[in-house]
Amino acid sequence: RRNTPPHRIICMTRVLFVCLGNICRSPLAEAVFRHQVRERGVEDRFEIDSAGTSNYHIGDPPDRRSTATAKQHGITVAGSARQIRIEDLRTFDYIIVMDAQNLADVERLKAAGGGTAKVHRLREWDPQTGSRDVPDPYYGGADGFEEVQAIVERSSAAFLEHLIAGAADGV
Ligand code: 4NP
Repeated sequence: RRNTPPHRIICMTRVLFVCLGNICRSPLAEAVFRHQVRERGVEDRFEIDSAGTSNYHIGDPPDRRSTATAKQHGITVAGSARQIRIEDLRTFDYIIVMDAQNLADVERLKAAGGGTAKVHRLREWDPQTGSRDVPDPYYGGADGFEEVQAIVERSSAAFLEHLIAGAADGV
Protein backbone atom coordinates (compact mmCIF):
# COMPACT_ATOMS: atom_id res chain seq x y z
CA ARG A 1 0.00 0.00 0.00
CA ARG A 2 1.47 3.32 -1.01
CA ASN A 3 0.81 6.80 0.34
CA THR A 4 -1.10 5.38 3.25
CA PRO A 5 -0.28 7.26 6.42
CA PRO A 6 0.37 5.24 9.54
CA HIS A 7 -2.80 5.16 11.57
CA ARG A 8 -3.77 4.59 15.14
CA ILE A 9 -6.92 3.01 16.39
CA ILE A 10 -9.05 5.81 17.77
CA CYS A 11 -11.33 5.08 20.67
CA MET A 12 -14.54 7.07 20.22
CA THR A 13 -16.14 8.59 23.27
CA ARG A 14 -19.85 9.35 22.94
CA VAL A 15 -21.19 12.16 25.11
CA LEU A 16 -24.86 13.19 25.46
CA PHE A 17 -25.74 16.42 27.31
CA VAL A 18 -29.18 16.43 28.93
CA CYS A 19 -31.47 19.06 30.48
CA LEU A 20 -35.24 19.41 30.84
CA GLY A 21 -36.26 21.08 27.57
CA ASN A 22 -33.17 20.64 25.33
CA ILE A 23 -33.54 24.28 24.26
CA CYS A 24 -31.49 26.27 26.83
CA ARG A 25 -28.76 24.49 28.79
CA SER A 26 -27.97 21.20 27.02
CA PRO A 27 -27.75 22.61 23.45
CA LEU A 28 -25.36 25.21 24.88
CA ALA A 29 -23.31 22.54 26.68
CA GLU A 30 -23.20 20.51 23.45
CA ALA A 31 -21.95 23.54 21.48
CA VAL A 32 -19.40 24.60 24.10
CA PHE A 33 -18.01 21.06 24.42
CA ARG A 34 -17.82 20.73 20.60
CA HIS A 35 -15.93 24.04 20.46
CA GLN A 36 -13.47 22.99 23.18
CA VAL A 37 -12.96 19.56 21.60
CA ARG A 38 -12.07 21.29 18.30
CA GLU A 39 -9.71 23.71 20.06
CA ARG A 40 -7.93 20.74 21.69
CA GLY A 41 -7.65 19.02 18.28
CA VAL A 42 -9.45 15.86 19.38
CA GLU A 43 -12.66 16.14 17.32
CA ASP A 44 -12.03 12.74 15.69
CA ARG A 45 -12.36 11.08 19.11
CA PHE A 46 -15.82 12.35 20.06
CA GLU A 47 -19.46 11.98 19.14
CA ILE A 48 -21.53 14.68 20.82
CA ASP A 49 -25.29 15.25 21.06
CA SER A 50 -27.92 16.65 23.43
CA ALA A 51 -31.46 15.78 24.51
CA GLY A 52 -34.18 16.73 26.99
CA THR A 53 -35.87 14.62 29.63
CA SER A 54 -39.24 16.21 28.72
CA ASN A 55 -41.27 16.21 25.52
CA TYR A 56 -42.11 19.95 25.92
CA HIS A 57 -40.04 21.30 23.04
CA ILE A 58 -39.47 18.38 20.66
CA GLY A 59 -38.42 19.77 17.26
CA ASP A 60 -37.89 23.32 18.54
CA PRO A 61 -34.68 25.27 17.83
CA PRO A 62 -32.47 26.39 20.73
CA ASP A 63 -33.81 29.32 22.81
CA ARG A 64 -32.81 32.68 21.25
CA ARG A 65 -31.40 33.83 24.59
CA SER A 66 -29.04 30.83 24.67
CA THR A 67 -27.91 31.34 21.07
CA ALA A 68 -27.45 35.12 21.58
CA THR A 69 -25.36 34.72 24.74
CA ALA A 70 -23.24 31.97 23.21
CA LYS A 71 -22.66 34.04 20.07
CA GLN A 72 -21.20 36.83 22.21
CA HIS A 73 -18.74 34.22 23.47
CA GLY A 74 -17.85 33.01 19.96
CA ILE A 75 -19.94 29.85 20.06
CA THR A 76 -22.70 28.77 17.66
CA VAL A 77 -25.57 26.80 19.17
CA ALA A 78 -27.56 24.72 16.69
CA GLY A 79 -29.86 21.74 16.40
CA SER A 80 -33.46 20.94 17.24
CA ALA A 81 -34.77 19.53 20.50
CA ARG A 82 -35.29 15.81 20.98
CA GLN A 83 -36.29 13.73 23.97
CA ILE A 84 -33.88 11.24 25.54
CA ARG A 85 -34.58 7.59 24.61
CA ILE A 86 -33.87 4.36 26.49
CA GLU A 87 -31.31 3.33 23.85
CA ASP A 88 -29.28 6.49 24.59
CA LEU A 89 -28.30 4.81 27.88
CA ARG A 90 -26.71 2.03 25.82
CA THR A 91 -25.21 3.96 22.90
CA PHE A 92 -23.59 6.84 24.81
CA ASP A 93 -20.59 6.44 27.13
CA TYR A 94 -21.46 9.53 29.17
CA ILE A 95 -24.80 11.18 29.89
CA ILE A 96 -23.97 14.60 31.32
CA VAL A 97 -26.99 16.19 32.99
CA MET A 98 -27.51 19.75 34.21
CA ASP A 99 -29.27 19.35 37.57
CA ALA A 100 -30.44 16.95 40.27
CA GLN A 101 -33.89 16.52 38.70
CA ASN A 102 -32.31 15.54 35.34
CA LEU A 103 -30.07 13.10 37.24
CA ALA A 104 -33.04 11.43 38.95
CA ASP A 105 -34.97 11.21 35.67
CA VAL A 106 -32.05 9.73 33.71
CA GLU A 107 -31.14 7.29 36.50
CA ARG A 108 -34.77 6.10 36.51
CA LEU A 109 -34.65 5.58 32.74
CA LYS A 110 -31.35 3.69 33.08
CA ALA A 111 -32.79 1.44 35.82
CA ALA A 112 -35.89 0.74 33.70
CA GLY A 113 -34.16 0.03 30.40
CA GLY A 114 -30.68 -1.08 31.34
CA GLY A 115 -27.61 0.50 29.86
CA THR A 116 -24.00 1.16 30.62
CA ALA A 117 -23.71 4.95 30.23
CA LYS A 118 -22.01 6.79 33.05
CA VAL A 119 -24.43 9.44 34.31
CA HIS A 120 -22.97 12.59 35.88
CA ARG A 121 -23.90 16.18 36.59
CA LEU A 122 -21.76 18.58 34.55
CA ARG A 123 -20.85 20.59 37.66
CA GLU A 124 -19.12 17.60 39.24
CA TRP A 125 -16.21 19.04 37.20
CA ASP A 126 -16.85 22.69 38.06
CA PRO A 127 -13.53 23.93 39.47
CA GLN A 128 -15.44 26.50 41.56
CA THR A 129 -17.20 25.54 44.77
CA GLY A 130 -20.95 25.96 45.19
CA SER A 131 -24.09 24.34 43.82
CA ARG A 132 -23.67 21.24 41.62
CA ASP A 133 -26.72 22.24 39.54
CA VAL A 134 -26.62 24.31 36.36
CA PRO A 135 -29.56 26.60 37.18
CA ASP A 136 -32.56 26.55 34.82
CA PRO A 137 -32.49 29.99 33.10
CA TYR A 138 -35.80 29.57 31.24
CA TYR A 139 -38.02 31.79 33.40
CA GLY A 140 -35.31 34.30 34.35
CA GLY A 141 -33.53 37.19 32.67
CA ALA A 142 -30.45 37.61 30.48
CA ASP A 143 -28.10 37.54 33.49
CA GLY A 144 -29.20 33.91 34.09
CA PHE A 145 -28.00 32.97 30.61
CA GLU A 146 -24.65 34.70 31.20
CA GLU A 147 -24.25 32.75 34.43
CA VAL A 148 -25.09 29.46 32.67
CA GLN A 149 -22.58 30.31 29.91
CA ALA A 150 -19.76 30.79 32.45
CA ILE A 151 -20.66 27.66 34.44
CA VAL A 152 -20.89 25.51 31.31
CA GLU A 153 -17.62 26.83 29.83
CA ARG A 154 -15.48 26.15 32.90
CA SER A 155 -17.16 22.82 33.82
CA SER A 156 -17.08 21.49 30.26
CA ALA A 157 -13.40 22.39 29.89
CA ALA A 158 -12.56 20.48 33.09
CA PHE A 159 -14.69 17.49 31.99
CA LEU A 160 -12.82 17.40 28.65
CA GLU A 161 -9.44 17.51 30.39
CA HIS A 162 -10.62 14.61 32.58
CA LEU A 163 -11.50 12.56 29.48
CA ILE A 164 -8.24 13.39 27.68
CA ALA A 165 -6.21 12.51 30.79
CA GLY A 166 -8.13 9.23 31.11
CA ALA A 167 -7.50 8.36 27.45
CA ALA A 168 -3.77 9.03 27.92
CA ASP A 169 -3.81 6.59 30.83
CA GLY A 170 -5.33 4.00 28.49
CA VAL A 171 -8.61 3.90 30.44
P1 4NP B 1 -33.62 23.76 29.50
O1 4NP B 1 -34.61 24.97 29.93
O2 4NP B 1 -34.05 22.56 30.32
O3 4NP B 1 -32.29 24.29 29.88
O4 4NP B 1 -33.80 23.57 28.02
C1 4NP B 1 -36.00 24.83 29.95
C2 4NP B 1 -36.69 24.92 28.77
C3 4NP B 1 -38.07 24.82 28.78
C4 4NP B 1 -38.73 24.63 29.98
C5 4NP B 1 -38.02 24.52 31.16
C6 4NP B 1 -36.65 24.62 31.13
N1 4NP B 1 -40.13 24.54 30.01
O5 4NP B 1 -40.72 24.39 31.10
O6 4NP B 1 -40.77 24.61 28.93
